[in-house]
Amino acid sequence: MPHFILIITILSISILSIFQPSSSLKIGETCSMDGNQCDAGLRCGTCPASGNTRPRCTRIQPISPTSKVNGLPFNRYSWLTTHNSYALSGSKSPSGSPVLGPANQEDDVSSQLRNGVRGLMLDMYDFNNDIWMCHSFGGRCYNITAYQPAINVLREVQKFLEANPREIVTLFIEDYVTSPDGLNKVFSASGLTRYMFPVSQMPKDGGDWPTITDMVLQNQRLVVFTSKSAREASEGIAYEWSFVVETQYGTEGQVAGSCHNRSESLAMNTTSRSLVLQNYFSTNPNVTGACIDNSGSLISMMKTCQQAAGGRWPNFIAVDFYQRSDGGGAPEAVDVANGYLTCGCPNIAYCRMNAPFGTCDIPVLSPPPPAQVQTSPDSPDGSFGGFGGFGFATHASAQPRWFYLAILTTLIMLLVM
Ligand SMILES: *[C@@H]1O[C@H](CO)[C@@H](O)[C@H](O)[C@H]1NC(C)=O
Ligand SMILES: *[C@@H]1O[C@H](CO)[C@@H](O)[C@H](O)[C@H]1NC(C)=O
Ligand SMILES: *[C@@H]1O[C@H](CO)[C@@H](O)[C@H](O)[C@H]1NC(C)=O
Ligand SMILES: *[C@@H]1O[C@H](CO)[C@@H](O)[C@H](O)[C@H]1NC(C)=O
Repeated sequence: MPHFILIITILSISILSIFQPSSSLKIGETCSMDGNQCDAGLRCGTCPASGNTRPRCTRIQPISPTSKVNGLPFNRYSWLTTHNSYALSGSKSPSGSPVLGPANQEDDVSSQLRNGVRGLMLDMYDFNNDIWMCHSFGGRCYNITAYQPAINVLREVQKFLEANPREIVTLFIEDYVTSPDGLNKVFSASGLTRYMFPVSQMPKDGGDWPTITDMVLQNQRLVVFTSKSAREASEGIAYEWSFVVETQYGTEGQVAGSCHNRSESLAMNTTSRSLVLQNYFSTNPNVTGACIDNSGSLISMMKTCQQAAGGRWPNFIAVDFYQRSDGGGAPEAVDVANGYLTCGCPNIAYCRMNAPFGTCDIPVLSPPPPAQVQTSPDSPDGSFGGFGGFGFATHASAQPRWFYLAILTTLIMLLVM
C-alpha cells in the first residue's frame, strides 16, 4: 500500500505543477526580489519614491508593434530608446577605477535589445587611438570618463541584427570624433556597414519613410544619425536634425505642460522632419528619480509633446534606467504611442490584427479583485500601496500551492488506508 500512496502523491504533484508554472506573476503582483517569479517581460522591483515599497512585477518590455500591425512606413512606429545606452552602473574605466559620474542604464546593449529597445543613444569620442563610448565633457574623453571601445557596443548591435533578420535598430550618435573617416572605420570593423540605411533614401521633405517591410527586404535595418552636420558629406552618415525633431533633454525638458525643441532641432511642429524624438530624463540620473520619471509623468509629457509636435506621437522615446517604473513605465508609453500611430487606438494592445484603422478591441474593465490582505513573509506589511489605482491584488503565497495540496493528498490517503 505505501507504494500506492507514493504514486498518488507523485501523480498529484506532477498534475498540479502543470497548472502552477513557477514563473507566473502578472504586472503589479507582489514578487520577491531574490527569485525571478514574474512573467516574461517583467521584473521584480520597487519604486519607493512614489510610495511603492512592496516589490511587484514591473514591465521592462514594450509590445512589439509589428506583432499587431506590420508593413507601415518606418515613421509610423514608436521605439523604446535608451539614453547613453552604454553607460552602465558599476562600469570600470580603462585605468581600473570606477568611471566618474552617474550611470544611465543597468543592463548591456544586448540585453536592452532583447527587451525590445530599438533606439540607442551613443556618445563617441577619439580616445586611445581608437573610438570610444565616453560620457565626458569639453569634447574630450579621459580615462575616468571612458566606458568602453565603441566597437564592443557596435558588435552587440551587429550580432542582434544578424540573429533577428526582421528587426530594425536606430543609433543616435553624439559625435565628438575628429579622426579622418573615424566613424566609417569603426562601423566597418564591427560588420555594421552592410545594414546601414542609405542617407540618400531618407525623406528630406517630411514624407513617409519606406515601409519596414521594404527595409527588412533590402536588409537596410540600421538607421544611423549623427549630431555632426559635416559628417553627412564626408562619410555619408545622416545629420540627425535634417530628419528628426527632438525635444529638450535633461531636467529642463521635464517641466510639466511644456514641450519644446532642443537647440539643434527645428521647432517640434516642423513637418518637413518626419521623425519625432522625445527625451525624458533628468540632468542628474539616478534610479530613484528615473522610477518616478518613467511612470505617470512620462505619458503626460508624451501627450504634451504630441500637441507641440503638431499632433504627432513620438517615434522614439528616450529614457534613463528604462527598466524602472511603478508598473507600466517606458514600455507602456511606447505601447500608447504605437497604438495611436499604427491603428488609431489608445494602446497597441487594443489594435486588432489586419483591421481597418480605428478598429479597437478595448477590454471591458473588470471589477477590482476583492480586497483581501494576506500577510506572509513576502509582504510583511501586507499593504497594497495603491498600484496606479487599478486594484491589483497581491499574490503572496511563498510556498507553491501544489506543495500543500500534495501533503493534503498524502494525509487523506493515509487516513483512508
Ligand atoms: C590612463 O590609463 C592607462 C592605463 O589603462 C594609463 O597607462 C594612463 O597613464 C592613464 N592616463 C592618465 C592620464 O591617467
Ligand atoms: C529651438 O530651441 C531653442 C532653445 O533651446 C531656441 O533657441 C531655438 O530658437 C528653437 N528653434 C526653433 C526653430 O524654434
Ligand atoms: C510651431 O511652434 C512654434 C513654437 O515652437 C510656434 O511659435 C508656431 O506658431 C507653431 N506653428 C504652427 C503652424 O502651429
Ligand atoms: C534624481 O532624479 C530626480 C528626477 O529624475 C532628480 O529630480 C533629482 O535631482 C535626482 N537626485 C539626485 C541626488 O541626483
